Amino acid sequence: MPNPCRFLPFLLILAILPSTPLFAEETIALHALDLEHMSSGWGRPVVGKSIENKPLTLNGEVYTDGVGTHALSILHVELDGRVQEFTALVGVDDETEGKGSIEVKITGDQAVLFESGPIRGGDPAIPIAIELEGVKRLVLIATGSQDGIGYDHVDWVQAQFTYTGEPPKAIPAPSLPPEEKIILTPKPGPEPKINGPSLYGCRPDRPFLYRIPCTGTRPISFAVENLPKSLQLDPHTGILTGHTPEAKGEYLLTLHAQSAHGSYSRTLKLVVGDTLALTPPMGWNHWYSFYDRISHILFREAADAMIESGMADFGYQYVNIDDCWMRKRETEDPMLQGEPRTADGTILTNSHFPDMKDLTDHIHGKGLKAGIYTSPGPWTCAGYTGSYQHEAQDAKTFAAWGFDFLKYDWCSYTSVAGGNSLDHLIQPYRLMGEILEQLDRDIIYNLCQYGMGDVWTWAGSIGGHCWRTTGDLGLQAGDLLPGFYHIGLSNAQHAAYAKPGQWNDPDYILIGSVGDAHKQDAPPIPTALTPNEQYSYMSMWSLMAAPLIYSGDIRHLDEFTLNILCNAEVIEVNQDPLGKQAAIVRHGDDTLILAKPLEDGSLSVGLFNLAEAERTLSVTWPELGLGAVKRVRDVWRQMDEPGHVQKLEVRIPRHGVKMVRIWPAEE
Ligand code: GAL
Repeated sequence: MPNPCRFLPFLLILAILPSTPLFAEETIALHALDLEHMSSGWGRPVVGKSIENKPLTLNGEVYTDGVGTHALSILHVELDGRVQEFTALVGVDDETEGKGSIEVKITGDQAVLFESGPIRGGDPAIPIAIELEGVKRLVLIATGSQDGIGYDHVDWVQAQFTYTGEPPKAIPAPSLPPEEKIILTPKPGPEPKINGPSLYGCRPDRPFLYRIPCTGTRPISFAVENLPKSLQLDPHTGILTGHTPEAKGEYLLTLHAQSAHGSYSRTLKLVVGDTLALTPPMGWNHWYSFYDRISHILFREAADAMIESGMADFGYQYVNIDDCWMRKRETEDPMLQGEPRTADGTILTNSHFPDMKDLTDHIHGKGLKAGIYTSPGPWTCAGYTGSYQHEAQDAKTFAAWGFDFLKYDWCSYTSVAGGNSLDHLIQPYRLMGEILEQLDRDIIYNLCQYGMGDVWTWAGSIGGHCWRTTGDLGLQAGDLLPGFYHIGLSNAQHAAYAKPGQWNDPDYILIGSVGDAHKQDAPPIPTALTPNEQYSYMSMWSLMAAPLIYSGDIRHLDEFTLNILCNAEVIEVNQDPLGKQAAIVRHGDDTLILAKPLEDGSLSVGLFNLAEAERTLSVTWPELGLGAVKRVRDVWRQMDEPGHVQKLEVRIPRHGVKMVRIWPAEE
């Protein structure tokens, strides 16, 4: 038997040094991890070189140790709590010659540990040093900044982990279990219920068309009290036609709908004056599903589908043609070829649109409205005839064809602008604004120039009714969050500029079956957005008083997509007559809270969970600027929710939303 005393000195040493680590601290370079798991928006990550295989160079400094990749680039690393620190330098490689801009974000177990803000080409390398004690999972994310991912060559240099024991390990991005498509919107009943805005702006003595949006089993018979003499109602369809009154003023109509299942009445205020689009326009646009694959047949089918799907019963009314209806320059396609204009300068459609007036007649016959598209430049973005030097003539043609909405897209205008001052940016839009105002037809004016020159600060004053605040949503890169959140967050900054007749436009709603803007030849396919992301999208757009223009394949709408697009109470928030855009109450820490004051004194609030896992979010009444509260209603479920005291505190799934309407207690 060994003498235990022989071990005593050794045991004593262990007892004296109980905290001595069993393993020494070591370091491992980022590039030594398995970079098979690192994604790259272009090409594959390169060890020791830039994404273009050149020496890693940041602000003139050359590095041998690092990784070159391209935004959007994501790497998941398993640390299992054994890593003390991550240090690195990050930047945009000099090979872009000053172009490109990125943002780097690092999360650890869902919490944001580092955010770089925008880093541009040519900027000095940004140092990163983050403590990781106890963190189990790290995610390194390099995204494009505001301007998309062009030239976003990301260099991670001198990047290393300090650890003890097992080294950290790059792992594949965890795949999430598919979310169940839970339908929250209650089905409308068989009894009639009139939806749509409570007020409608038009100019005096102009053609008038309005289909009363009404759910319920048809046949429904309609009646209108106090209808101005110049207007007529078709009692079977609920379509109002005629001419607006000659005298400016407010006309308070009462709409009635009656069927075997019940009856419903409500008021509609016709505001005959100078302002159109008193509530955000609602409709459909072909771009993100069909691109240049269009003909008049598609728009006839779209109008039919808007009625048959029930969308029109919730207030959707514009059927809008985007780019590609004109003749195309430099094309072999006989359907698109030919002189762009007649000898007198009248713009010509391509052969897919043999008779525009006949097309708008079809759309109008259903009580819906028609939209068209052109550019102030000589060519549209897709290379078709633009309106440069034919602005007034084209606007008159559009009015004569019967269009009610114009999207005016900058595209090639840079080539003729003659400069890039603010005045140069405004000039073409001012010109078209003046022209549209002179027409004897009400045409909604939608500016599309991607937010240049802070368009929200001046577009309303030159006749614009809505203006795109960003680049194309369909081209917006996502990161952990899909692109619409980034567009939405950017659009949310301009809340102060929205009001009746003047709306910030964050682009279309891309859900359901929808095309890919990067692969325009491909047919529409089901959206990659999760069900919760779709609820968030529609909630965000509704709270932001954004135009609600769907751009998926309207002819093939499934039940879940219709549940997102057609919730009367969500749409009511969007169409509220006070016309305020939601303010940002809180943003950060993977939470976004938007609040939109409504005309009846209530407040609609969206709590968005931007994190990668379900969590509890809460907001107090004082944070929302509220005192006592008498009623809280979940607008998606259309149910009152008693029991929220002093605050709203709810579990919200990954990338999901809780959208409510809160009524303050009377004083
Ligand atoms: C883009 C515009 C898109 C779409 C496209 C057509 O400039 O932002 O919404 O209209 O042109 O070519």
